[in-house]
Amino acid sequence: MMSKPRSQPERPVAGRASAPRFHHFRGSLGRFATGVAIVTFDGATKRHGITVNSFMSVSLEPPLVLVGIARSAKAHDELAGRPFSVNILGAEQRQLAMHFAGWPGAKPVWVEGATAPRLAGVLAYFECTPWAAYDGGDHTLYVGEVTDFNYRRGDALAFANSRFTTLPESQLGIEELL
Ligand SMILES: Cc1cc2nc3c(=O)[nH]c(=O)nc-3n(C[C@H](O)[C@H](O)[C@H](O)COP(=O)(O)O)c2cc1C
Repeated sequence: MMSKPRSQPERPVAGRASAPRFHHFRGSLGRFATGVAIVTFDGATKRHGITVNSFMSVSLEPPLVLVGIARSAKAHDELAGRPFSVNILGAEQRQLAMHFAGWPGAKPVWVEGATAPRLAGVLAYFECTPWAAYDGGDHTLYVGEVTDFNYRRGDALAFANSRFTTLPESQLGIEELL
């Protein structure tokens, strides 16, 4: 005879999560290590930069990339329909990441890209024209079509468990997969 399961799997909680659950959710998400990027663009009256780790490649043909921007961010509304650049940061650019995350102090050096302004000295960049924007709850997912890109060699800045770290080129695995 089959015995009854001792406990049911936890049911998903509908609606706003409780504070401990929200904290646990963020902690769980933080186990996904990412790079660090800065989205830069010219708004109606000023130049914007916002540090993000919600960057992903979407499509090779056409070349599309995506960033997730919080609705609460000052840059959120202005980014709609505007060209932007995604600047992927190197290990030595932590101060720049902090600068565009609300802790000013670095001295950004700007490059006037053909499509959108970008930052000098980054590990890689993608200049984009707006392709689509999707509702993502308290974020908007902005997809851009890449018009120009480049990269250099170097150690990457990474982010995991709410902390910056360095991803040294010399410690990358030897198998090249993709
Ligand atoms: C490592 C790191 C990653 C971040 N990732 C994102 C992100 O993906 N999307 C986002 O909207 N904000 C992200 N932020 C927060 C924004 O950088 C920060 O809230 C913003 O610069 C502050 O903008 P405000 O002055 O408009 O409030 C991140 C911050 C850090 C330090």
